[in-house]
Amino acid sequence: MSMTGFDLSFRHLCSPYTPSRFEFPTQIRRKIHHGCTCTAIKPVLCSTSVSSTAVSDSRNADENHVSTSYGRRMMISMISFLLPLHVPIQHSYANTPDDLLLLQEEIRKVLTKGKAAGVLRLVFHDAGTYDVNDNSGGMNGSICYELDRPENKGLKKSLKILLEAKKVVDETQSVSVSVSDVIAVAGAEAVSFCGGPQIPVRIGRLDSMVPDPEGKLPEETLDAFGLKQSFKRKGFSTQELVALSGAHTLGSKGFGDPFIFDNSYYKVLLEKPWSSSSGGMTSMVGLPSDRSLIQDDECLRWISKYADDQDLFFEDFKNAYIKLVNSGAKWTTNS
Ligand code: HEM
Repeated sequence: MSMTGFDLSFRHLCSPYTPSRFEFPTQIRRKIHHGCTCTAIKPVLCSTSVSSTAVSDSRNADENHVSTSYGRRMMISMISFLLPLHVPIQHSYANTPDDLLLLQEEIRKVLTKGKAAGVLRLVFHDAGTYDVNDNSGGMNGSICYELDRPENKGLKKSLKILLEAKKVVDETQSVSVSVSDVIAVAGAEAVSFCGGPQIPVRIGRLDSMVPDPEGKLPEETLDAFGLKQSFKRKGFSTQELVALSGAHTLGSKGFGDPFIFDNSYYKVLLEKPWSSSSGGMTSMVGLPSDRSLIQDDECLRWISKYADDQDLFFEDFKNAYIKLVNSGAKWTTNS
């Protein structure tokens, strides 16, 4: 994983520190009061003064942890032992309806039709790393650490505009909205902005502080069997694979208007323009993976249904999208 200047700036914007796999947003750590025995944050909390009210910089916290004397460590362990397991903590992460409304508003300010496709693709590249077998990956904002991977080429600019929206929400609400929430909500906004279905997206996800395992996203050279297997590992059926692939209606792969979310993906697939003898632009339509879907009988059945019935496609896409953005998500405790 290379550490270009650009990536470093993203790391900084996404999260300033990397102590463990999942973490509360920065401002939560600042406002959490000692006494909580939550395992995710206990190492940080225990490393600071018991009477302190804030963990202003967790790197300092780690240093403190190293320099803590034996006697003090003993005292802290005893206090931890005596404390009840669920001491209330003061939450300050974005997860209320007001936070969601503001986030949607700020995303709409930075979103244009030209940016919608990239934003929707970003959702798949963050969430699509999910693996049901070991519950790794998923919708966790780890894309911030994976932008240099070849499959994520071109996604930096999409993430950058979304982080502008995040900054405004964080400053206005005095809470920290997770990167995964921003991406999940932005993808839904991109779909409806381009004429697709309204998709209700819940917020309150926690971000990962480390990249997800590599090689989890499907390659465009996969055949239908490989695509089905890949989506099965993410918990998706063949029907959901076909519905989600309809996202390729946005963008420049030749499935109708690049800025309109509709069912033209399926209509064009049925026409197989790439096999036309006239050649030219039609031979460029679709990715090999799109073309392979139509070779499979089970996929073809769904392609035909969605080509005939846009409402059905919208309904199925909506449900599959909600499942995608909840894949592997870790949630704040009160959302
Ligand atoms: C089925 C497996 C999939 C494969 C192999 C795949 C692969 C790709 C590739 C190679 C591109 C072209 C990138 C470029 O122009 O450089 C692309 C574009 C895109 N993908 Fe996928 N994708 C898949 C599924 C999905 C899913 C599930 C979504 C979202 C729900 C999605 C959303 C998009 C969008 C919106 C674009 C257009 C991006 C743009 O034009 O800026 N893809 N995909």
